[in-house]
Amino acid sequence: MTLAPVPGRRDAPATRLSGRPAVRAVSGSVVGRHHQVELLVAVLDCGAHVLLEGPPGTGKTTLLRAVAAAGEMPFVFVEGNAELTPGRLVGHFDPSRLLETGYRPDVFVDGPLVEALREGALLYVEEINRVPEETLNVLLTVMSEGELHVPRLGRVLAADGFRLVAAMNPFDIVGTARISSAVYDRVCRITMGYQSAEDEAEVVALRAPQVGEAWRARVVDLVRRTREHPDIRIGSSVRGAIDTVRLACSLGGLRELPPESWRTGLDAATVALSGRIRLQESCGRSPEAVVRELYEAVFGAEPTEDDGDDAGERGAPGGA
Ligand SMILES: Nc1ncnc2c1ncn2[C@@H]1O[C@H](COP(=O)(O)OP(=O)(O)O)[C@@H](O)[C@H]1O
Ligand SMILES: [Mg+2]
Repeated sequence: MTLAPVPGRRDAPATRLSGRPAVRAVSGSVVGRHHQVELLVAVLDCGAHVLLEGPPGTGKTTLLRAVAAAGEMPFVFVEGNAELTPGRLVGHFDPSRLLETGYRPDVFVDGPLVEALREGALLYVEEINRVPEETLNVLLTVMSEGELHVPRLGRVLAADGFRLVAAMNPFDIVGTARISSAVYDRVCRITMGYQSAEDEAEVVALRAPQVGEAWRARVVDLVRRTREHPDIRIGSSVRGAIDTVRLACSLGGLRELPPESWRTGLDAATVALSGRIRLQESCGRSPEAVVRELYEAVFGAEPTEDDGDDAGERGAPGGA
């Protein structure tokens, strides 16, 4: 049985960012990134699909959410992973109602793609490189045709405003190669590198405001050094700095010590960073040892008894 085509809501209000005001609005909630904000607003304004490419924690999701909010654009979020089958992306007929009603449009449960098409929304696919090939092919068809054919449901047209916005980490070993030239041929690409030390400190201040500026700047310095250390293959993003500060605060609270005390800072950095960094396999060291080396390079060696208030602190060294 074939049913009449189901159009998307072509009458849905057009969702357009209005250039400069949108750029200004986004800049209020995103630290730095003026160039990328401008590029992203322009890409979406002209109706193109876009790929944000950069390491984890570089603010891809933050930027996109801010742009969508500023433009009051509906936004559908999908986590890209191996379980995102075409069926999950597109939707399915509710099996419990199928028996009594048959394949009727109102029995169809919209998946994120159909929802985004009908609403003229931004479909944000995180980690698009992890999406299975056959699911990518569905997205490719939608990008080039502007419509989707769903068996037994019919055609779903893309309402005005529909755009695919994808993100990926170019260094992710899981399936990055599968992002074929066919995908690249259909998207504009904006790269997101790490921000400056000043911007990263501002990001940390937003997410973890409880500590002094000077100490925060040193935590950011420590985290940035993980990206340059010869024994480290993959360093930490700004998320590692946010967690170090938060953890130092809660640990300091438990110990009734300032978060900035030497050992509390070391323990916080070790727990926050040792799993985030990936070592060179040949280096033969533990991540804890490398974090401690970097910590001592930034904060100095452990103070002795005479040196100050945190000398009497208890607890074993941070695992070096
Ligand atoms: N430019 C920025 N402005 C404000 N917050 C940011 C910025 N960059 C990163 N962050 C913060 O850092 C964390 C990671 O950002 P996120 O957008 O999730 O990165 P990604 O999607 O690239 O992995 C979040 O807590 C986010 O709020
Ligand atoms: Mg993200």
